[in-house]
Amino acid sequence: GEAGFFSPKTPDIVPLSPSANDALLLAKGLRYDLLVKWGDSISAQDTFGFNNDFLCFVPIQNKSHEGILWVNHEYVDPYFMHGSLAPQSLAHVREEQYAVGGSLLHLEYAGNTWQRKPTSAYNRRLTAETMIPFHWDEPIVKATHAKGTLGNCAGGFTPWGTILTCEENYHFFYGERDHETNAIVPSERGWETFDPQPPEHYGWVVEVDPFTGKAQKHVALGRCAHECATVAMLNDGRVVVYTGDDKNDEHLYKYVSSKPRDLKEGKLYVAQLERGEWLSLDIREQPVLAAAFTSQTEVLIQLRKAAKLVGATPLDRPEDIEIDPVNGQVLVTLTNNVPKGNYFGSILKIKEHQNDHSALMFEASTLLTGGEETGFAAPDNLIFDRLGNLWFTSDISGSKMNKPPYERFKNNGLFVMPRHGKQAGQVLQIASAPVDAELTGPCFSPDGRTLFLSVQHPGEQSSQAGRWTSNWPHQGDAKPRSAVVTIQGPLLNQLQGIR
Ligand code: FEO
Ligand code: CA
Ligand code: CA
Ligand code: CA
Repeated sequence: GEAGFFSPKTPDIVPLSPSANDALLLAKGLRYDLLVKWGDSISAQDTFGFNNDFLCFVPIQNKSHEGILWVNHEYVDPYFMHGSLAPQSLAHVREEQYAVGGSLLHLEYAGNTWQRKPTSAYNRRLTAETMIPFHWDEPIVKATHAKGTLGNCAGGFTPWGTILTCEENYHFFYGERDHETNAIVPSERGWETFDPQPPEHYGWVVEVDPFTGKAQKHVALGRCAHECATVAMLNDGRVVVYTGDDKNDEHLYKYVSSKPRDLKEGKLYVAQLERGEWLSLDIREQPVLAAAFTSQTEVLIQLRKAAKLVGATPLDRPEDIEIDPVNGQVLVTLTNNVPKGNYFGSILKIKEHQNDHSALMFEASTLLTGGEETGFAAPDNLIFDRLGNLWFTSDISGSKMNKPPYERFKNNGLFVMPRHGKQAGQVLQIASAPVDAELTGPCFSPDGRTLFLSVQHPGEQSSQAGRWTSNWPHQGDAKPRSAVVTIQGPLLNQLQGIR
């Protein structure tokens, strides 16, 4: 049972108080090193992209001290790149297209820290200009490939060693097509002004082989603002993928493969929370879908509309999803829903019937609610460590931070809820982000001794303020820069029972 994990060395953690400092602050017993920041050379050809989010460390030959780190680059801030609020030319768009997607970095632990290996062939970029095939038999709007990947927010990984990177706010880049009128709804970023692309080519889960950089877009997982894609493997080798659509009143989905290790042939379901049911999104099983769409491909492209037709539960912005390694329960962050008066968000717990991830029935309950009592608001990324301690980050948007009703929380943070010892079940703040930043992508090295963490969008309010609101990481350059850091220290080891 869980008592077997108890470590007598479980430390008394002194949590941080909320801070508005322009610094990455860590609880006592932890330190950080900067690994890579926006604009750094990662190879002879390539530079590190903008706004790093999801991280996934893939060991090389099962080594804990050498591996490939995947990094998502979610979106760009034109003010940082060209001093304007939007791209002014095709050259600007090309520069922005290059800065999103993902990076692969070959890392080695040496001299008490992580070093990049700049001459390794494993260092690569995927960008919004990389041609990526659809893993599907029918063309998507007449095409077999999409130009690039974008909006890469969180992600997941597969039992066969590949990475899943999720295209979240895809409509920011090339806009969205109105299903009724076929007209293009303009985007916020305005790329379509200089380089129009079919909106249907974005909003997918993309699988990347970290050793080759080869990628494919998985149509079977549906199209929406995917935050993440979290994979469970069934005893017979089939896979289940949980994925949430991060938009007010959108939904939670799950894919169950028909064949082992397959992301193409399977069934997609959407959650009905009140009855605890996974509802089929198969056009052959749902007359309401057959009446509205011409094919399963169209259902998958118009996933949000299909989910509403079958009666899915609207949720308060489903963000990250993790499966509890101790009891198999599925945690989903519901970050907030401001129009509905839910400012602080919660973490939802889903207990599948008989703990079977392919079950069609489940029980849903709330694990944690944000607010004054718990000391966090707007939870986002989740991760369990090797002992089952739950770590999560917060994402109060820069425009709302330090203002009512969020002022008490100050800058965003990283929190841990210990599973064992005197502080079990308490929410403790472990890190505080620089001004306007969000801590994202927490990921442990295989031995648990390093926590890789993204510091995303420091100084995000600069374009509004007309000056740099942050100067992090304070490296002789006033311009704030997103970066990946590595966190180590006795607190991390003690929490996980590592000597
Ligand atoms: Fe890009 Fe839902 O966070
Ligand atoms: Ca997120
Ligand atoms: Ca996660
Ligand atoms: Ca968020």
